[in-house]
Amino acid sequence: MNKFELDTPALLIDFDKLENNLAAMQKIANDNGVKLRPHTKTHKTPYIAHKQMRAGARGVTVAKLGEAEVMNAAGLDDLLIAFPLQGAAKMERLLRLAERAAVRVSLDSFPVAQAISDAAAARGIKIPFYVEVDTGLHRVGLAPRQATRDFVRAATKLRGIEFIGLLTHAGQAYAAKTLDEIAALGKNEGALMVETAEMLRADGIATPEVSVGSTPTARFAAQVQGVTEIRPGTYVFYDTMQVHKFACVWDDCAQTVLFTVVAKHPDRLIFDGGSKTLSSDRGPDGAATFGTVVGFPHLEIYALSEEHAHVKIIGDGAAPNIGDKVQVIPNHACAVMNLHDQFIATRGDEAIGSFEIAARGKIR
Ligand SMILES: Cc1ncc(COP(=O)(O)O)c(C=O)c1O
Repeated sequence: MNKFELDTPALLIDFDKLENNLAAMQKIANDNGVKLRPHTKTHKTPYIAHKQMRAGARGVTVAKLGEAEVMNAAGLDDLLIAFPLQGAAKMERLLRLAERAAVRVSLDSFPVAQAISDAAAARGIKIPFYVEVDTGLHRVGLAPRQATRDFVRAATKLRGIEFIGLLTHAGQAYAAKTLDEIAALGKNEGALMVETAEMLRADGIATPEVSVGSTPTARFAAQVQGVTEIRPGTYVFYDTMQVHKFACVWDDCAQTVLFTVVAKHPDRLIFDGGSKTLSSDRGPDGAATFGTVVGFPHLEIYALSEEHAHVKIIGDGAAPNIGDKVQVIPNHACAVMNLHDQFIATRGDEAIGSFEIAARGKIR
């Protein structure tokens, strides 16, 4: 079927573009001699995770235990849960998962380290862990150098966890304005991590992994000697934000939402989907725009209701008519995947199949 014959709104993934993106990031990893452990929070789809593994990825990253469980049920068995796990229910699920897969976690505090260690030691196992370092995002993570060193020294004494290295996510790159700035952030991300890892090694603490990465910084951080692993996620599809952060060009964007024009006024249009379809994530640098209309540079999505996209017609450029279908590149690919049960795969204009987004909605 031609994709423009699909009922709307429909989430489309262009598999030719997806496969090019997977190969290009794998090449960056290979050329720099680092492992690629992609973050699957973007696609939330085991089929795509398997594609990443076939392209050369060495394990995958998830944000939530629920995502890890879905990936494991689909046969993925090398999983990093990059999130500080807390609470008895999660400890039980973590241990169950560890019976079936190689699971590693990241953490940055003693209470989390202690809880995981106690639970694992009671079962007679050790859970491998990274310590998360804050290289500028100021979310989770200890300050590099001394604060991380002090924590690792203490945490390596716990019996139920095994230290395997350092991890960071330079999400502050999304506030950068120029490619030079992003390159500098990526280099700094790598350099701070390698320097801290060297301090640990000088203390006699084996530190095999130095894991970095966001989609914009991964290609720069990967070049830093001593980095061992990159974890970009959004690179699979890219999105409006990534184009503005110089990670890709429009033609690389594999994810679009197909809409139908359902109302037309002299100065504006309405599409048949809003925040329930595109998410409310704003455009680059906080702009009140909600996606990029493919092929219509003078159309601007300036507001969303739940089921309506409000689209301004700028100037007197041609606008589609009621009943016409348009494709929109979302602002934030990961948030959009979480809103849909399935996506339609396309090659060129052909719809070739439908795939369940099995790890959507896994908030625990
Ligand atoms: C810990 C961690 N690693 C990797 C990533 C992937 O980064 P990006 O979304 O820039 O591809 C994220 C994204 O939020 C993350 O939180």
